[in-house]
Amino acid sequence: MKHTRRLYVTLIALAMFLIFAYFYTGRADNQKQNAIPKVGVLQLMSHPALDQINKGIDDTLKKNGYVDGKNVKIEFQNAQGDQSNLRTISKQFVQDNVNVAVGIATPSVQSLKNATNKIPIVMGAVTDPEGAGIISNNKKPGGNITGVSDQAPLKAQLDLMKQVIPNLKTIGIIYTSSDASATSQMKKMQTLAKKEGINVKVSSINSVNDIQQVGTALAENVQTIYVPTDNTVASGMKLLSSIAAKQNIAVFPAATTMVKDGGLATIGLSQYELGEKTGEHVVRILQGKEKTATTPVTFMEKGHLILNQKMAQKLNIQFPDSLVKEAQKKGQIIK
Ligand code: TRP
Repeated sequence: MKHTRRLYVTLIALAMFLIFAYFYTGRADNQKQNAIPKVGVLQLMSHPALDQINKGIDDTLKKNGYVDGKNVKIEFQNAQGDQSNLRTISKQFVQDNVNVAVGIATPSVQSLKNATNKIPIVMGAVTDPEGAGIISNNKKPGGNITGVSDQAPLKAQLDLMKQVIPNLKTIGIIYTSSDASATSQMKKMQTLAKKEGINVKVSSINSVNDIQQVGTALAENVQTIYVPTDNTVASGMKLLSSIAAKQNIAVFPAATTMVKDGGLATIGLSQYELGEKTGEHVVRILQGKEKTATTPVTFMEKGHLILNQKMAQKLNIQFPDSLVKEAQKKGQIIK
């Protein structure tokens, strides 16, 4: 009798121990997994704008106490402009069970979206999230994606072209037909220009290799060239601006970084700031303060004036005094 009771007690104690041990180690495992969150950053390709955006993201994470390797693991991947790389990396992020995935540029986000509808995705500069079929409502995303749009102030950019190029009647636009962001802006700019009685000639390219030929032909038929935030043109911007300059044609780009690569001028968004805003979304999601479904897409209104004096001299163009003063006060002048 005594023996049986002792046996029972021992068995119960053993069972309790096992149950406890099971839950305890289980929880410890979970904690280990969650202890250091993972952020996957997928950048479409390298060009100065996207590099700036990535830097803005990194700095903002740091500023908010997320130090890579210490209390966060940042998995950065560059797809080198390649579709199959985009797919492979997106799948990898899902396998690694990242806490947040960031896509820099439209194709990166599209690829992440195809890979997961659960993991929160933050858009790092997608011009037209609705137009690109990424989300159906910028104000109420509803799913696992929100973030930042880099929609440029097109009207201000058109006004700038009119101020710098006298009697502006014909603008050329060069863009990549497969680039959703560029296509959306091209159409908007076309509509705006038409309203002001300005003719738009549109030429499309498929890759950087087309810039030389298409750019040269376009420059022959227009007074100036406008380029949207086109990822392919951005990576070949130096080439485009130099072939246009050979025919004395200025290139007005949609982004400030492209003025540094030979564009004449723009009123554009700071690409670094776009990165900062993207990083803020990431931080809030990591802190549990933001849900993608209920967080509207961030749009940035304020453009910065940037003038390329060096290019202006080369093209024999004189910026109006008022513009130069404005750029000196709150913009930037490249000398
Ligand atoms: N808007 C582009 C996209 O959605 C990405 C982008 C951001 C970009 N800034 C740019 C492209 C500057 C060219 C130049 O894909």
